Amino acid sequence: MPSPLRILLVAGARPNFMKIAPLIRIIQTRIGEGAPLAYRLVHTGQHYDDRMSAVFFNELGIPAPDLNLAVGSGSHARQTADIMTKFEVVCQQEKPDWVVVVGDVNSTMACSLVCAKMEIQIAHVEAGLRSFDRTMPEEINRLVTDALADLLLTPSTDASENLRREGIPESKVEFVGNVMIDALVANLEQARASTLPHRLGLRTAEFAYVTLHRPANVDDASRLAMIMAELRRLSDRLPVIFPMHPRTRRMCAESGVAIEANAALKIVEPIGYHDSLCLTENARLVLTDSGGLQEESTYFRTPCLTLRPNTERPVTVTLGSNKLTSVERLATDIDDLLARDARFGSIPPLWDGHTAERILDSMLAHA
Ligand code: UD1
Repeated sequence: MPSPLRILLVAGARPNFMKIAPLIRIIQTRIGEGAPLAYRLVHTGQHYDDRMSAVFFNELGIPAPDLNLAVGSGSHARQTADIMTKFEVVCQQEKPDWVVVVGDVNSTMACSLVCAKMEIQIAHVEAGLRSFDRTMPEEINRLVTDALADLLLTPSTDASENLRREGIPESKVEFVGNVMIDALVANLEQARASTLPHRLGLRTAEFAYVTLHRPANVDDASRLAMIMAELRRLSDRLPVIFPMHPRTRRMCAESGVAIEANAALKIVEPIGYHDSLCLTENARLVLTDSGGLQEESTYFRTPCLTLRPNTERPVTVTLGSNKLTSVERLATDIDDLLARDARFGSIPPLWDGHTAERILDSMLAHA
């Protein structure tokens, strides 16, 4: 019997969980078929509220993490350093052959740094995305992680192109598609059974689904107040559902920006994965600054406005149903979208529900 290939999977924050779930599923399937693989799941604890973490484990059927580093919130330096210190000990004990990191959160970068120093192979899922905006913490995380990774698994050809331009050797880069779409496809039935629209009293498909949490939008009080005013205006035209991220709620409280929810502007606690997919599929329009929602809207061909000056996911604009907007242009862009078809755009190549298989095959080929 060969000794099994030891894979350590890292997840830390909400957008990581839907990327890890399909990987765990395919690894478990292959182990069931007798493949010499062993895996452990590490949760860094970057997100810890039930609504930001546990609900996703339950809905996505992710087994409880083997290890939870429980780092919690903090400044970037503190959070990154805490993850690194604790993850180093995990690597010393577990001695993995591969560490798989996903996305672009602080946990992704912190664990990559540890592995690079310990000469442990890193596979980065969702490699190569670039907003070319270094004021975004995620852009720094992406640049550092990709500079250190041994295998860079990209969701789109533009991402592979970015890596090529940065001089990453071709042999390390593989275009595998979007693993988040694997989770979406696997959860579609449960998403369609969601009772959230009914519970929210939505009698029509004519509603807007809003999520906003990026520091650039919510950390500045006057900008946050302008955004909330635009949402009130939007809610005069169609019901707005706004599950509020804890960061946004905290910033409203700290900067005295009123959260004036009413029957048309429904500001609720963060919602789960199935409910979110259900709203995204059925909304007349999505307004967001999340990376994941740009992609999920594209898959459902739901019109999406992204409240950012740039996106690291350009296929959602060139092929998909996404458009960048600003607070100043928002009212006009909403008018334009509401005058268009309720669905448009196409699904990018390899966003087909089979990305996790390609990722595992690529890791085995590089082992
Ligand atoms: C992080 C990611 C971001 C991702 C987002 C999705 C980084 C740099 N950012 O941003 O890319 O889009 O997750 O949610 O990694 N908080 C809670 N409960 C929690 C987690 C956070 O109340 O379970 C609050 C705390 O007040 C915390 C704040 O949210 O200070 C920000 O959390 P943090 O993990 O630093 O970044 P996010 O804004 O969530």
